[in-house]
Amino acid sequence: MAKVRSVFCCTDCGTGSPKWVGRCPGCGAWNTLVEEVAAASEGSVPLAHAERPTPIAEVLMDEWEAQSTGLPELDRVLGGGLVPGSVTLLGGEPGIGKSTLLLQVAAEWAAGRRVLYVSAEESRQQVRLRADRLAALRPRIWLSAEAALPHIEAHVEEVDPHLLVIDSIQAVHDPQLGSAPGSVGQVRACAHRLVQQAKARGLATVLVGHVTKDGGLAGPRVLEHVVDTVLAFEGDRHHALRLLRAVKHRFGSTQELGLFEMGDAGLTGVPDASGLFLADRRHGVPGSVVVPTIEGHRPLLVELQALVANSSLPAPRRSAQGLDGGRLALLLAVLERRAGLTTLATSDVYALAVGGVKVVEPGADLGVALAVVSALTDRPLPAGLVACGEIGLAGELRQVGQTARRLAEAARLGFTYAIVPCSAPDPPPGISALRAATLAEAVDGLGLACSGRPPGLRSVAP
Ligand code: TYD
Ligand code: MG
Repeated sequence: MAKVRSVFCCTDCGTGSPKWVGRCPGCGAWNTLVEEVAAASEGSVPLAHAERPTPIAEVLMDEWEAQSTGLPELDRVLGGGLVPGSVTLLGGEPGIGKSTLLLQVAAEWAAGRRVLYVSAEESRQQVRLRADRLAALRPRIWLSAEAALPHIEAHVEEVDPHLLVIDSIQAVHDPQLGSAPGSVGQVRACAHRLVQQAKARGLATVLVGHVTKDGGLAGPRVLEHVVDTVLAFEGDRHHALRLLRAVKHRFGSTQELGLFEMGDAGLTGVPDASGLFLADRRHGVPGSVVVPTIEGHRPLLVELQALVANSSLPAPRRSAQGLDGGRLALLLAVLERRAGLTTLATSDVYALAVGGVKVVEPGADLGVALAVVSALTDRPLPAGLVACGEIGLAGELRQVGQTARRLAEAARLGFTYAIVPCSAPDPPPGISALRAATLAEAVDGLGLACSGRPPGLRSVAP
């Protein structure tokens, strides 16, 4: 019979201590010790129960096949679907749509399988209301508003589901542990027990996890280590678009991106994201440029906008929404020193990516810089143009990966010109490349320079 004893463990290095101390004796970190319950088993594990080594090719795989979630965008990120016996952690800010997404998955699974949805945060009535709204009232979805782990385990025993959803892991607690619900020790111990249960029963389990303000998962990082898959659900709460990506995935690639739109009937997949981003775009507006970015394996056309205004502040404002603020500051410095746009030093600059999407890859540099120049000179960029290139500190343009795929997506959406670095490969059919060696050359070639040249396309020398 196992007996329970309490130990204190450092969440950073794992050093144990029989009593709580402020400073970890192992790594010296302050305030990292949390209480844990360790089950000390008496006697050794009987050898007869040990698993025999198996030739790798003879390991049976049939039970480990991914099963579709019924939502193609989620399947794309998971590489086919949920694997029985796997544990997936879905992280995201409050209100982003985690509960909605999982209720929709539950409804799809409940068509032929049993689902146990444990709502440890919201009442059963609240979940039912949401299910009503999502048309997800299926008889095979079992609902429980239980937060105590032993009760959840008992429910799993009773319902014997094919899918278990725990919303959220931070709200689940084990009364055997002394610490408060939501504490690091609780979250870690409960997640560990749920992982063991998932493996033992071959039960696909999804845990919801809240993220802190800086985007990390609340609770110890070890939570990310014990689960098989970590999904991050992102987006701007004021926009309908939601991005789903895998941060860690033991069963496949972490390169895929899933796109959803939040509407009145829940989340719907967005197969043509570029079309969505560009739907409301107005042509001929200064400060607007389209960049072909790559998110995972997925090309995505995004409109970037900039606004430049005279500043009355000693330190002019720089605001970057959906873009990297540090990168914007760097590009402004390059524009000032390498393209001679000295007025930028005394101007407020606002730049943003339209549609609530984040564009942080350096491949968008040229687009951001051209948007700023276009806003400053009040000259629109030619319609049908996309910009693609990284900018170095010397003002030189550098090639970015997968240029051909980016430009093919631009061509698909009717763009006819792409301004690219000299070294970029030949463009796919339907779109022509305007090559520039430096940022100044690109600015000049597009007729954006302040020298009074009329706007319009000139071909840039290769
Ligand atoms: P929710 O799934 O509760 O978010 P989370 O579990 O991540 O905290 O959903 C949050 C928001 O989604 C909520 O503000 C309302 C909105 N919403 C819709 O716009 N349409 C819908 O059909 C549903 C169910 C929610
Ligand atoms: Mg929720």
